[in-house]
Amino acid sequence: MNRLDGKIALLSGAARGIGAETARKMAAAGASVVVGDVLADRARETAKEITDAGGKALALTLDVTTEASWAAAVAAATKQFGKLDILVNNAGIFLGKDLMEATLEDWNRLVAINMTGVWLGTKMCAPALAESGKSSRHGSAIVNLASIAGLVGSQLDPLYSMTKGGVTLFTKSTALSFGRKGWKVRVNSIHPGVIETDMGTQTFASRARQTGSNDFEAARGVAMKQHPIGRLGVAEDIALGIVFLASDDAGFMTGSGMVIDGGLTAQ
Ligand SMILES: NC(=O)c1ccc[n+]([C@@H]2O[C@H](COP(=O)([O-])OP(=O)(O)OC[C@H]3O[C@@H](n4cnc5c(N)ncnc54)[C@H](O)[C@@H]3O)[C@@H](O)[C@H]2O)c1
Repeated sequence: MNRLDGKIALLSGAARGIGAETARKMAAAGASVVVGDVLADRARETAKEITDAGGKALALTLDVTTEASWAAAVAAATKQFGKLDILVNNAGIFLGKDLMEATLEDWNRLVAINMTGVWLGTKMCAPALAESGKSSRHGSAIVNLASIAGLVGSQLDPLYSMTKGGVTLFTKSTALSFGRKGWKVRVNSIHPGVIETDMGTQTFASRARQTGSNDFEAARGVAMKQHPIGRLGVAEDIALGIVFLASDDAGFMTGSGMVIDGGLTAQ
């Protein structure tokens, strides 16, 4: 189950957090992984950790907001490993500001990474994914990191929510578009609840600041209470879902969203 033997995966924003854990899990499942991030040193450390554990990994500097950076990443991945089977559009940022205090500069940066980055990654990787999909029973796979904030509204960050809502529907539209073209590339999204990564920490700080309390631990407690399962998520919770969606076990899934949120949106 959930094996990725012989598959080549390119992950954006994989130096740390959910992306890094997904790279580790994919390598353990038999994939060769390309760890792309603007944090070049940290990406190298993550890749080294994977190779030290016996996996196959390549680190590269990837800025998802530029076409040239994606072109270089696809070229490096296919040169090193010969093909591309999986793309994980994971890079993303959280703003943590109310819509009334956000600036146009904030918005443009958010859109560039959270939306333009996902579209460019899809566009630039699609030819290689479609090619390798021809010789795979269930095709190639793209997994986009959306959020529960792309399904329901966000009190803390309405602009982040707008970008993730865009990723949710872009995922479905891309699945339809590739299906119409006859390309065997499945496209699905993941919708995490609050996950304890650097970004998770940023959400607690933002909650504290926006409620005027400055009590980080209290803000973390509020976030935890919103999850009926009784805890916050960890990167592994999400990485395992991404591995499943990328694997042939999800062979009949495209245009879908997988919610991994400890019951938060069940309420
Ligand atoms: N942590 C959460 O609570 C949570 C919840 C829902 C969705 N998500 C989503 O999951 C994804 C991963 O989040 P995380 O919690 O691991 O965050 P994180 O901040 O720990 O990691 C994000 C990574 O993206 C990289 N990145 C930022 N800008 C980039 C760019 N221009 N090009 C390439 N890489 C870039 C960062 O350097 C970092 O390594 C994001 O898309 C995020 O929106 C996270």
